[in-house]
Amino acid sequence: MPSLNLETFKSKVDAYQKKLVDESARPHDSKSLEELRNLFLSRKRGLITLLFEELKDLSPEEKPAAGQWINSLKLEVQEKLAALEAKLKAPQRTKKEIDLTLPGERRYWGAPHPVRLFQQEIENIFLSIGFSIEDGPEIETDYYNFEALNFPPHHPARDDWDTLYINDTLLLRTHTSPVQIRVMEKKKPPIRIIIPGKVFRRETPDPTHLPMFFQVEGLVVDEGVTFAHLKGTLEYFLKRLFGDKIKIRFRPSFFPFTEPSAEVDIECLACGGKDAACRLCGGTGWKEILGSGMVDPQVFKNVNIDPEKYSGWAFGMGIDRTAMFAFDIPDMRFFFENDLRFIRQFTLK
Ligand code: PHE
Repeated sequence: MPSLNLETFKSKVDAYQKKLVDESARPHDSKSLEELRNLFLSRKRGLITLLFEELKDLSPEEKPAAGQWINSLKLEVQEKLAALEAKLKAPQRTKKEIDLTLPGERRYWGAPHPVRLFQQEIENIFLSIGFSIEDGPEIETDYYNFEALNFPPHHPARDDWDTLYINDTLLLRTHTSPVQIRVMEKKKPPIRIIIPGKVFRRETPDPTHLPMFFQVEGLVVDEGVTFAHLKGTLEYFLKRLFGDKIKIRFRPSFFPFTEPSAEVDIECLACGGKDAACRLCGGTGWKEILGSGMVDPQVFKNVNIDPEKYSGWAFGMGIDRTAMFAFDIPDMRFFFENDLRFIRQFTLK
């Protein structure tokens, strides 16, 4: 009977030992760790305590071996508990923690778009000489885009603006000039404004054309305004934009809403007229950059400003086209491909 007892005792110790291994493999918090401690070591009902109590049922010869098994199990329990406790106390790595050994994360910062940069440069120049900035709708009526600007219906001059119509009366504005009308309807002279904004024309994209591009309009209306003011202001503006040495020329031209009208060319920045095959100026040495003129008296009548009392001048310049020229960009489409390697190359002087 005693030998059977010893065997039973041994299998009990083995079962507890297996229980200990299973239990300690589970994740623990401080509460479940305490329960595990009590399960084995509680002074009243702990499994180890009970085993020690059962020792007395064994024969004196059996006791030393059995005592050793209990003691080594107890030691094992204590070691496991200490290890689990240490694990629980160790600082946990949270997601927010920075691992300085990881390779850096490359961030792709954006950059101001070259067209926007150039527009800001233009705005700054005009703001510094007393102009203010206005804007108007991109979807316009036929009246503002054409009629009020002295283009009668079906007049062939309309053909110069390849228009995207929405219906018979609505269209995408082909130039920023309709905002001249909108401003003059509301404000009385003196007026000194620029109007930067998007315009739209029915164009197939190629290196120098896009169906959407940017213009900046200028308008000055006051008593005693002459062509000399137009010339002087535009020369001042272009010299600040391109440097004092830039050569400028005025060529007679025609716009229904200005009389007389002039187109303004600047000397080719790429070849200075020396390269007959220059891709920027086509060998002419000049680049047309804006249209301008004295506000036509009929336009003043359309907005109830007395042309006998007031006079004015206006201009319209392509922003992206001029930026291409200033930054030496060969293809207008680059502006809107959104390739950061392109966009990030530009800064203002
Ligand atoms: N609106 C004209 C264009 O788009 C430019 C212009 C503006 C000409 C103002 C004269 C005066 O070509």
